[in-house]
Amino acid sequence: MPTFRNPRANRPHLRSVSITGVGSYVPERVLTNADLEKIVETTDEWITSRTGIRERRIARDNEATSDLAVMAAQRALTAAGITADQVELIIVATITPDMQFPSTACLVQHRLGAHRAAAFDLEAACSGFVYALDVASHFVASHTYNTVLVIGAEKMSSVVDWTDRNTCVLFGDGAGAAVLQNRPNAHGLLTTCLGSDGGKASLLELPGGGSACPASVDSVTKRLHFLRMDGKETFKNAVNAMVAATHEALNRCGVTVAEVKCIIPHQANHRIMSAVAERIGAREDQLFVNVDRYGNTSAASVAIALDEAVSQGRIVRGDLVLMVVFGAGLTWGAALIEW
Ligand code: UT7
Repeated sequence: MPTFRNPRANRPHLRSVSITGVGSYVPERVLTNADLEKIVETTDEWITSRTGIRERRIARDNEATSDLAVMAAQRALTAAGITADQVELIIVATITPDMQFPSTACLVQHRLGAHRAAAFDLEAACSGFVYALDVASHFVASHTYNTVLVIGAEKMSSVVDWTDRNTCVLFGDGAGAAVLQNRPNAHGLLTTCLGSDGGKASLLELPGGGSACPASVDSVTKRLHFLRMDGKETFKNAVNAMVAATHEALNRCGVTVAEVKCIIPHQANHRIMSAVAERIGAREDQLFVNVDRYGNTSAASVAIALDEAVSQGRIVRGDLVLMVVFGAGLTWGAALIEW
């Protein structure tokens, strides 16, 4: 059994927060690298060697982010052994909401039949799920709510420029969900470390459609409603931020990398994950990787990976799990959990 310090333990008025159920959902349609070769000037060899991605899932035209979120949420509720009317708060982390407003969380609340739940969206791009876990955990820790549902859900295919080979090969659609509750005599979420740097906002952005640049014929013509990214700079910042967040989380809890059973990094690029693993001194087999099958699903990425790691038996009760993320904003974060 790993030994650790629980930074939350010296605040006796707070209770511990555990993830008591996880679930995920990806659309059926598979888009392979060979399919992309027919859309833009690229090759399977380039995509695989530069990113590790072999295929990604693409939602149907009539399938929105909320549809993916509802499927993942229902699976998480089942895994936690609870019904929707027990949920008191729903947080959906997404950068691809169904619409500007109302929030996707409200649409999910209605579809689930979560009659008692408050609901809101949280936007921290690819870091959204860990940000949302942190926010949600405080509601449970402070006895405000007993049961909170956190969902990371994205239809990235709706904001990807399918004529831009620099970005369209990287992203996919999907959703993952977790139920947060107090589990007596368990430590659960030990710590979360979040960070941001809006000075580098332009590295990865979708400029059109907000109040700074409302939708117009001009904004559409200039393709401002699509995601754009400076890949190289984003890559460097991702590695640095994920390494720093990992060290901070582990140091706070007095845990060594070797004691972490499963590391779940944001699934953007296999090379980023390997670089982070090398710099923190982790073995490749400590990493959970599914970027080859789903590409970068933004806020859904670590949520889907967590569900798959649990269902594959890579994580069992008592294990230490580290989630570490990075995304537009810039934003980043790490969460250390005793499962
Ligand atoms: O989730 C949020 C965080 N996002 C990320 O973490 C993504 C971070 N960035 C990356 O993963 C990588 O930078 C990329 C995968 C996006 C790119 O890899 P890279 O090794 O940094 O490639 P590059 O940008 O240096 O591009 C090299 C070449 C360029 O050609 P020239 O200018 O050298 O002639 C690109 O035009 O590769 C070209 N290229 C492609 N070639 C074939 C770019 N995309 C493609 C493509 N197929 N799909």
